[in-house]
Amino acid sequence: MTAAAQSTADAIQRIDSHTVLFGVIGDPIRHSKSPIMMNRAFRETGVNGVYTAFHITADKLGDFIAGVRAMGIRGVNVTIPHKLDVMQYLDHIDESAAAIGAVNTIVNNDGVLTGYNTDGIGYVRSLKEEAEAQLVGKHIVVLGAGGAARGIVYALSKEAPASITIANRTEQRAIELAASMNGVTSVVGVGNDQLERACANADIIINTTSTGMFPHVDESPIDAAWLRPGAVASDIIYNPMKTKFLMDAERAGCRIHGGLGMFIYQGAYAFEYWTGQPAPAAAMRETVLEALQQ
Ligand code: ATR
Repeated sequence: MTAAAQSTADAIQRIDSHTVLFGVIGDPIRHSKSPIMMNRAFRETGVNGVYTAFHITADKLGDFIAGVRAMGIRGVNVTIPHKLDVMQYLDHIDESAAAIGAVNTIVNNDGVLTGYNTDGIGYVRSLKEEAEAQLVGKHIVVLGAGGAARGIVYALSKEAPASITIANRTEQRAIELAASMNGVTSVVGVGNDQLERACANADIIINTTSTGMFPHVDESPIDAAWLRPGAVASDIIYNPMKTKFLMDAERAGCRIHGGLGMFIYQGAYAFEYWTGQPAPAAAMRETVLEALQQ
């Protein structure tokens, strides 16, 4: 029996009348690595839980949430395209999810459903643990102004960096995103014509666009010659694990940070909200890496 088959067998063995249900919803969903990651986390910590993937189309979203209440599903992760629409069915929206305008994690406390967003804080935890422990006083450039950028900029702004510059192809979206962040950190939005100048002064440059994602692996959102040697180049893409942006940046003398950690830690926070226990992040990463290499 392979290691994967053995662990599935171990998990099934433990299912009993106390087993607590969890899952991820999306459309599509069959590509998701969340079930293997979360079931590994349950096995690792001895939590009697099972986590599966539900293919939920937009017209079934309300029915699904009614099912969560009826069946007492303890926790749900929410992915594309439901992160915004699911909010109307929940009882409470956590402050961070409200500010970001999207929910990726639901906690069910005895029928009371609260929506959280762990994407941005997951990214920041990954960045701090894997690349740059101290964000206070740093100059940060964020490439892109979409949904992913919103969560990341919100979480970064809580870390008291010196500045955050959002650079986007459509300048107006960058300006609007910057204006919606009213924290202590200075956040400005610019068009990509300002990117070279912004990068010259940046300690950390983060790609939140889809540029460079499989199958467009030969594309990069930036000319690496603009980057300061020693700066951190960070990409939220994890397919491929090392994008052209990161390869070019490494050659230019930058430290690099890939996107897998964001996925691991958004899940780690969800696990912690549901169980109250520290997530076994190293084991979760090992399982996802194994699956990605198959
Ligand atoms: P997500 O929710 O994943 O962030 P999104 O909301 O569609 O997705 O945002 C994608 C971001 O990547 C946007 O900032 C987009 O720029 P525009 O606002 O100008 O559309 C950016 N983006 C996508 N493809 C790009 C490309 N080829 N070059 C530059 N920016 C790109």
